Amino acid sequence: MTALLRVESAAKYSVAILLPLALFTATYRLAFHPLRTYPGPFIAKLTDAYGGYQVKRKRLHLQAHSDLSKYGPVYRQGPNRLVFNTVAALRDISRHPSIRKSHVYSFTSFTPTPHVLGTVDPEPHRMKRNVYGRALSGHVYMAWPAIRALNRIVMLFNMPKLLTGARLLKNIIKRRAAMEESSGRHDFWAVASTSHQEHDLTTPNSIEKSHVWAEALFFFPAGGQTTSCALSAAFFYLSRHPFVYARLAAEVRDVFSDGSLIQGGPQLLSCKYLRAVIDETLRMSPPTTVMPWREVDRHLSSKEPCVIDGHVVPGGTLVAISAYCLMHNKAYFPEPFAFRPERWLDDTDPDRLARMAEAFIPFSVGDTMCLGKTMAYMEMSLVLAKTLWYFDFKQAPGEAGKLGGGNPEGWDGALRGRVDEFQLYDAFVGQHNGPNLTFIPRKEL
Ligand code: HEM
Repeated sequence: MTALLRVESAAKYSVAILLPLALFTATYRLAFHPLRTYPGPFIAKLTDAYGGYQVKRKRLHLQAHSDLSKYGPVYRQGPNRLVFNTVAALRDISRHPSIRKSHVYSFTSFTPTPHVLGTVDPEPHRMKRNVYGRALSGHVYMAWPAIRALNRIVMLFNMPKLLTGARLLKNIIKRRAAMEESSGRHDFWAVASTSHQEHDLTTPNSIEKSHVWAEALFFFPAGGQTTSCALSAAFFYLSRHPFVYARLAAEVRDVFSDGSLIQGGPQLLSCKYLRAVIDETLRMSPPTTVMPWREVDRHLSSKEPCVIDGHVVPGGTLVAISAYCLMHNKAYFPEPFAFRPERWLDDTDPDRLARMAEAFIPFSVGDTMCLGKTMAYMEMSLVLAKTLWYFDFKQAPGEAGKLGGGNPEGWDGALRGRVDEFQLYDAFVGQHNGPNLTFIPRKEL
């Protein structure tokens, strides 16, 4: 009985304290907050739960697109958050000295040592980018044996298998760590290990604390899931656009006299339509759907205000540009939901092409831009060219063939109603379903 009374009075006191506090916070956020004049959904002005709820439902990119159509090129997505949707804002955000990667990035690391993406402090981040940039450029990365094994693992990537993947990854690292330094291997490990001498990378017990372990766990989705998502999207769009399919197949089959000759090099680079198909796929369905939050320095000097696309933004504000939204902005990409690779090849209006290039950001821009871009283009080009050389493919018949597209009748039909759009489910790297295709070996081979 006494315990019950105690609980009751504790509840009363909590309400007496929390209710005025909540009212005070709500009034401040609505009427006095420096971002109070920005448009946006009412709930978003009060709490970050608005964005959080959309992320939970894996559709923040779609909701943001819909909100931008309603509120204009900048809106308030949380009490302290602004989302912009113009190239001018992109330029200002990526170049302003007082804007840097937001602290929320550090939550993406689950290892004692943060991986490169989760490293928020500019200095260690720059140092890591230097090392990995060297390792990922050109043939050095191609020679990294772990990734070839990883690609096979990534095919099986899903949560229950993650642990198996992690075990395999650890074995790969252990095997490589056990090799003599004098083995003369010119691979990612050789570059990364000599750059982090303070960590004993060669002792198996220390693997979990090492940079290489943190990066390996990050590269697993960053390198594999992104590329597999983009390839799935490319197969989806090709199976729905017979003219694009026919033109691409003709290009690949003309340029290469034999499938075994398809490899990285000038011939593959000469396949301009292939590149246009990949770019249009990345524009339509960018694998990274996450909001890349940047933070305006809290201690901004009043002499040097932070101006983003004409808006003076106060210190401490989180700002972002969603790649999905910018690449579906009609101002840069007319008919943004139409899959038209030709738009990348039409050089009758160079200004329009330049505007498109500026707004094309599937790999982000600035000093946090993707380090695997070259690698990703190479992988996607090889897979598409080889597949089209050896096979023909088409959408699977019946209901199964619809997998991957939108459904206006579905529970999320208001946002996922476009049947010809390959649907991405917003996680750090976009998740997806399908497509289901039928592959037929080419008759003439
Ligand atoms: C189609 C494929 C890919 C896409 C669309 C993509 C996209 C991106 C994006 C948008 C970012 C910046 C994220 C942010 O700032 O929030 C990023 C970062 C990164 N990506 Fe990729 N990526 C792809 C493939 C790869 C591959 C193949 C690798 C290497 C194996 C890779 C390695 C990285 C690394 C290391 C970073 C972190 C860069 C940093 O924080 O400085 N990516 N990627």
